Amino acid sequence: MAISISLTVNGAPISALVDPGTLLVQFLRDQLRLTGTHIGCDTAQCGACTVHLNGRAIKSCNILAVQAEGADVTTIEGLAQNGALHPMQAAFKHCHGLQCGFCTPGMVMSAVSLVQRQPDLTGDDVRAELDGNLCRCTGYHNIVKAVLEGAEGMKAAGTSNANANAAASAPATA
Ligand code: FES
Ligand code: FES
Repeated sequence: MAISISLTVNGAPISALVDPGTLLVQFLRDQLRLTGTHIGCDTAQCGACTVHLNGRAIKSCNILAVQAEGADVTTIEGLAQNGALHPMQAAFKHCHGLQCGFCTPGMVMSAVSLVQRQPDLTGDDVRAELDGNLCRCTGYHNIVKAVLEGAEGMKAAGTSNANANAAASAPATA
């Protein structure tokens, strides 16, 4: 039997009927057509499905859609504002932090959450904190460069402390 859920996705209020077994990533992709959130493993290993839930980066293949009842969800589609890339997206582009791009939405979402929790980062911090996001193209060097540049861009834009309260004690990915 379908269950009614209400939540906010990328700033828009959403009400929908979902099967109790529907994963959040399936709901986002199949029902809302937000296909920027990818499915790499479906077993909480790769991080391709990372979104923000109440300001915290989580793997959306690891929770049910019904568990997002009342939550504020942001996907990769919600980062750019008024046609302008988010500073982290711009940094990935500038630093060539992607190859095939399959892992990139999850990388960017984890990186944004990381910088919101910890604006001042070293390369080692980035490698440690993003170890839940895998890149099959193995382009990690440029990804680390991109996150460091993105962190500076977020600080310059005044967005590095957004959602700080919600994310204060949260890990980069669940
Ligand atoms: Fe790989 Fe969710 S699809 S962690
Ligand atoms: Fe291809 Fe990461 S850029 S999987």
